[in-house]
Amino acid sequence: MTLREKLSEKKALQSVIGLGYVGLPLAVEFTKAGLETVGIDIDSRKVEAVNAGRSYIGDVRQDELSDVVGSGLLRATDDFSVLAKVDTINIAVPTPLRKTKDPDISYIVAALKEIREYLHKGQLIILESTTYPGTTEEVMLPLLEESGLKVGKDFYLAFSPERVDPGNEKYTTKNIPKVVGGVTPACTELAAMLYRAAGMNPVPVSSTRVAETVKLLENTFRSVNIGLVNEIAMMCNKMGINVWEVIDAAATKPFGFMPFYPGPGLGGHCIPIDPFYLSWKAKQSGFDARFIELAGMINGDMPGYVVVRVSEALNERKKCLNGSKILIMGVSYKKDIDDTRESPAYDIIRLLVRMGADVYWNDPFVKKLEAENGSAKFLEYDAGSIREMDCAIVVTGHTGVDYSVLVDNCQMIFDSRNVLKKFDSDRIVRM
Ligand SMILES: NC(=O)c1ccc[n+]([C@@H]2O[C@H](COP(=O)([O-])OP(=O)(O)OC[C@H]3O[C@@H](n4cnc5c(N)ncnc54)[C@H](O)[C@@H]3O)[C@@H](O)[C@H]2O)c1
Repeated sequence: MTLREKLSEKKALQSVIGLGYVGLPLAVEFTKAGLETVGIDIDSRKVEAVNAGRSYIGDVRQDELSDVVGSGLLRATDDFSVLAKVDTINIAVPTPLRKTKDPDISYIVAALKEIREYLHKGQLIILESTTYPGTTEEVMLPLLEESGLKVGKDFYLAFSPERVDPGNEKYTTKNIPKVVGGVTPACTELAAMLYRAAGMNPVPVSSTRVAETVKLLENTFRSVNIGLVNEIAMMCNKMGINVWEVIDAAATKPFGFMPFYPGPGLGGHCIPIDPFYLSWKAKQSGFDARFIELAGMINGDMPGYVVVRVSEALNERKKCLNGSKILIMGVSYKKDIDDTRESPAYDIIRLLVRMGADVYWNDPFVKKLEAENGSAKFLEYDAGSIREMDCAIVVTGHTGVDYSVLVDNCQMIFDSRNVLKKFDSDRIVRM
C-alpha cells in the first residue's frame, strides 16, 4: 500500500515527536479523527502520564485523553525504534534561543538523528516547531538524505507551523488552518492529506521557506504591535492620558485598526523568541530587521518600567521598594494558563529582589515557580495576608479571581493589565 492509499483509508500509523504544549494536543486530535498515533518523548514522566491517560496540558481534557488511550489509538514511548514502523512523523520539539539570542535548533537535530536511523521508503516527516526560514531544506534535508533515500521519491518532507494559542477555547489545534509547505509538490500534497484526514484545514504554500516565514511573520506582527502599544502607554503616562480609554475608543473603528494592549512584558515560548529567529537569519543575508530589534528592546524593558512606576507610586506614599512587601499577582505569561516560560513576572521578581523588596506571589493556575525564583514566597490569597502587603502588582489577570479581595485590602495595587478596570479606588495605580 502506498502512503497516499494508507492516508486516504486512514490506515497509516502516525507519530508525534515531542509531547508538550503543541505535540500532545496534535496527537490527541489525530486519534480523535480515528488515526492511530504513537507519541514519542525523551521525558519518561510524560510518556508514563500519557499511557496512564493523565493529561498534563491544559488544552487537553482529561476525559479526551483517557478515551483515546483507552481505545488503543494513542500510546506513548521513549523508544525511538518505533519509528521503523510509523508512516508519518510530526516533530514538535522546543526551539529556544541561546543566551546570545541565536536560534537553538539542537532539539530538532537530536530528533532528526533518531529519525535518520529508522527512515524508510514511503515515510512522511513534517516539522511543526517554529524555526528560521531554511531549516527544513538546509538542515533537515541533508541529514535525512545521508540515509541514501531521496526526498519526493522515497520519503516526503514538509514544514507546517503550529499556530495554537494555549487557553483559547474558540481556536484550537483542530480548527486553526494548517499552513503546509513541502520540499516537492508531492511532499506538500501528502502532508495536506494527513491534516485533512485529521479533520483539519490545510493551506498549501509553494515552499518550506514560505511556510517557515509565515509563522515568523505572524509572531513578529504581534511583537511589533505590542511594542508599539507599550511605547504609546509610556507616552500617555507622561502626558497624563488614559491609554486604555484611548485603545477602547480607537477599537470602535470598524476597519483599519486592531487593538493591542500594553502589558508588563512578553512571555511564553513564541512571541519573545520567534522574531529573533527571523532577524538572525535575515542578518546572514546582510539585512538588519530594525522593527524586530526595536520591538524586542521596548518589550524587554517593560518589566523594568513596571518596577520604576511601582517605585514612584510607593515614593508618593512615603515608602520605598527596599523593605516593602510586594505581592506579584499572576505569574503565568498570560491569563488562564499555567505556563510561566519567559514570563515577565520572573524579571519583575528579580528586579524587586535586587532593590531589597520582600517579594510574594500568588497564581491560582501555577503550582510552583522556576527554581531560581525561590526568593519569592507563596502568599495565600485572603484578606488577612493581603493586608500585610505594601503593594500588589497585577502581572497576569486570570478569570475567576475575586479581585475585590485585593482592591479592598491591599494598600496599593499596580495594575499592568487593566484587569481592575471596573474598580474605582485611589489605591489602584494604572499602567
Ligand atoms: N507553546 C505554544 O504556545 C506554541 C505555539 C505554537 C508553536 N510552538 C512551537 O512548537 C514547538 C514546541 O513547543 P512546546 O511549547 O510544545 O514545547 P514543550 O517544551 O511544551 O514540549 C516539547 C517536548 O519535546 C520533548 N523533547 C525535547 N527533545 C526531544 C527529542 N529529541 N525527542 C523527543 N522529544 C523531545 C520535551 O521533553 C517536551 O515534552 C516550539 O518550536 C514552539 O516554538 C509553541
